[in-house]
Amino acid sequence: MSAQNFYITTAISYVNGLPHLGHAYEAILTDVMARFQRLDGQNVMFLTGTDEHGEKVHKTAEKNGMSAQEFADLNAAGFQKMAGTLNISNDDFIRTTEPRHYEAARAIWQKLQDKGDIYLDKYEGWYSVREEGYFTEDELTKDPETGHMMTPNGTEAEWVEEPSYFFKLSEYTDKLLAFYDDHPEFIQPVARRNEIISFVKGGLRDLSVSRDKKRLSWGIPVPGDDDHVMYVWLDALTNYITAAGYPDVDCERFQSFWPADYHVIGKDIIRFHAVYWPAFLMSAGIDLPRTIFAHGFINVQGVKMSKSLGNVLSPDGLVETYGLDAIRYLLMREIPHGQDGNFSHDHAVQRINADLANGLGNLSQRTLSMIYKNCDAILPSGEGMNNEDKALLNKVYSDLQGPMREHFRAFEFHKGLEVIMSASRMADAYIDANAPWKLKKDDPERMKVVLYTLAEIIRCLAISMLPVTPEAAGKILDQLDIKSDERYLVHVGTDHALKAGVPIEKPEGVFPRIVEKEEERQKAAS
Ligand code: MSP
Repeated sequence: MSAQNFYITTAISYVNGLPHLGHAYEAILTDVMARFQRLDGQNVMFLTGTDEHGEKVHKTAEKNGMSAQEFADLNAAGFQKMAGTLNISNDDFIRTTEPRHYEAARAIWQKLQDKGDIYLDKYEGWYSVREEGYFTEDELTKDPETGHMMTPNGTEAEWVEEPSYFFKLSEYTDKLLAFYDDHPEFIQPVARRNEIISFVKGGLRDLSVSRDKKRLSWGIPVPGDDDHVMYVWLDALTNYITAAGYPDVDCERFQSFWPADYHVIGKDIIRFHAVYWPAFLMSAGIDLPRTIFAHGFINVQGVKMSKSLGNVLSPDGLVETYGLDAIRYLLMREIPHGQDGNFSHDHAVQRINADLANGLGNLSQRTLSMIYKNCDAILPSGEGMNNEDKALLNKVYSDLQGPMREHFRAFEFHKGLEVIMSASRMADAYIDANAPWKLKKDDPERMKVVLYTLAEIIRCLAISMLPVTPEAAGKILDQLDIKSDERYLVHVGTDHALKAGVPIEKPEGVFPRIVEKEEERQKAAS
């Protein structure tokens, strides 16, 4: 099978603050898919970045006594650092303040205008700066205490009146509904699809797509009218095509990677991605992305993260407490496809210790140590396998090539990981049943076959874990002397099975156990 091009993006984060667990979750989720697709032989382009214009960034910069650009530079560096800390394998990092993006955003505006979809009028209505979004009165509720108008997401909306350019979104209602109908995979998961279809069926109003420069100057100037800057969402959404080379639609990158396979975003911004973005693209005559995948939100100990509650978890702190691969695993294992998740310290420790330290880590450490000690540090031969050994190996190969692969392809990492862990538990049961430490005296030839079978299972499990725990899985494969061009999903199978006679290094544990002092545990849980 020849490699297919695969383009995947995260949302680009606002630079009004530093990254937190929610941003980390989205980055890791997308990274796991990007790494999985590479593992499965595809040619991947993975984009992440920062959304730097708009009123929210402008106002927060002012509060911090900085220019918007200085403030954006500072926080964009924080997001770039997070990508490094979390071992995110992005191929590009886009900032919407870069010249390449100004060019693309102004070019798409021009296309919409040439199509006759943009007109100048006056906007009178509600706007939430926190969400950078427009709301109709019937979507809002009045807070009885403050009298403020609040959006369904609980942010405050303010009344705005200003001259504004509009995009004829209302003319796209039927086209969008027809598109959703023809492309059932476009919005995932299905609950989000239903939500969007019912919103669009309610009828769409034209969308204000510029801000008056007198009120907000931090944005990309509207082509041909310096009194306006572009609405931050039209600017921001365009990042996905900027990075593919737009406006040069004939360039190799655009031809190879657009339309994107996945835009991975949080459920709070589905409307912008599944309604506005496809309408802009239809107007500009550009193909639509294949899938908008909306993940859920992460709460901490059952409560929404917020600065005022002081429960905002930083990616740096999490990595320090649990270890990078452990936190990556935990988030992917615990949060089901598209649903909200909860982060709790006790549960994290339990899961990491059970699945990684005592599970896969212990399996590989025990096996490799026995080979190191009992087989002169040389991988024994698997010749003479009995039917039970063969059946176990075949079951592992087919579980990983079948259900695990299918789950990963569908963004069901929690289920894919369960397949891997269940294979690891089967291998544990096999060790207990065959007791290779006893065979050492009684039947050393049989011991070798058992250890070979286990090492071969570990090789396949480690390959499968590469997208989620790249460093630890890579170390296991190093210990087995597996070369980098033999670390693909296609190598999970008998044709690429371990060769006897390979020397192995003294094994070192790759998934440390989290041991806590009682007082630390209580502090973290409180
Ligand atoms: N700038 C916009 C996105 C523009 S995309 C063209 C934005 N930025 S954000 O910084 O507020 O959010 C970035 C991403 O992080 C979004 O997909 C958002 O849903 C996600 N998350 C923010 N908090 C989150 C949680 N607590 N949990 C999970 N994801 C969350 O929106």
